[in-house]
Amino acid sequence: MTELDRLRQLAAHSHAVIVAHQDVGGAYPAAPTFSAYKGYAWLRDGSFTAEGISRYGDVQSADRFHDWVDRVLRGRRAQVDDLCATVARGEVPDDSAMLPTRFTFDGADGSDPWWDFQTDGYGMWLWSVVTHAARHGLDLERWRGGIDVAVDYLVAFWDRPCYDWWEEHVEHRHVSTLGAIHGGLVAISPYTSAPAQEVAASIRALVDAEGIHDGHLTKWLGSSAVDGSLPACVVPFGLVSGDVAAATLEAVAGDLDVDGGVHRFAADVFYGGGQWILLSALLGWNLAVAGDTEGAWRRLRWIAAQADEAGDLPEQVAHHLLHPGSRDEWIARWGTVASPLLWSHGMYLILADELGITRKAA
Ligand code: BGC
Repeated sequence: MTELDRLRQLAAHSHAVIVAHQDVGGAYPAAPTFSAYKGYAWLRDGSFTAEGISRYGDVQSADRFHDWVDRVLRGRRAQVDDLCATVARGEVPDDSAMLPTRFTFDGADGSDPWWDFQTDGYGMWLWSVVTHAARHGLDLERWRGGIDVAVDYLVAFWDRPCYDWWEEHVEHRHVSTLGAIHGGLVAISPYTSAPAQEVAASIRALVDAEGIHDGHLTKWLGSSAVDGSLPACVVPFGLVSGDVAAATLEAVAGDLDVDGGVHRFAADVFYGGGQWILLSALLGWNLAVAGDTEGAWRRLRWIAAQADEAGDLPEQVAHHLLHPGSRDEWIARWGTVASPLLWSHGMYLILADELGITRKAA
């Protein structure tokens, strides 16, 4: 079998894993067998997974995911109206009153404790549903109810500190979170009367003033460190371009990439702080768009080498750990690393498509 055949086979397997585990109601579970994620679906994981599936050409599976999010968010209309009314009265709602970051498959909060207040997923979903609809010529009105809820929520709460993509530092405003909201609001702006472009411009101004150090984006406003999620602020979320974009990719590659595998951030102790498949794909995707095809291929090959015998991709691998002493405590707490992680497979599909491996001849 040629290398290309193997890479295509991994794409086919990635698609198969994602659709095999998709809930009947449309949700993509984060990781079907991993103790701490079992029974829950995230907007963050799901939005990128849906993008991979949409690029792979499975319109129906992506539609079903977006139908699920639309249904879940329509069910939150009253909650968001209450939250917006609280703000209009000049009061600040408690974090516990905000929308969750993950949902059970029937759209409930679930009863397991989680670091729940995160806004990035709502922006990601707007970007994901608009991109999917545009790619396949679909009518966005199908998801109108959910879209309006997400837009109202983000317009009201975009600048509020919340947990980052990794459930950490609720006290900060995270640049990757702001980037995701920016991407979602810009994508939806032609289809809403809400001030999406105005908020997006405010995000750009804020990040410009407080989220850049040494020419690159930073992990949170006022920090100097980088985070492996920051490339998303370039592609797909378009928060920055030009020199800041280039410096950000360079800083992430320089500080967090080892042999093609990307760490989340320097202080990461989760399972010892290994290399994340989905972040390698995110960097590779960015490099491909920036014209560094060789760099993108290097990340794709690294990812493919991490698949197990069945072709499953985990959340992270342990070849290079930033804090090896912290690995065992997580294994004792939650078991071995999540695998398969649907977001890893979804990101592989995105990068494979970006490099033309899975594109059907026109
Ligand atoms: C990660 C999140 C992710 C979740 C589900 C967490 O450990 O920090 O980014 O959304 O797992 O995959």
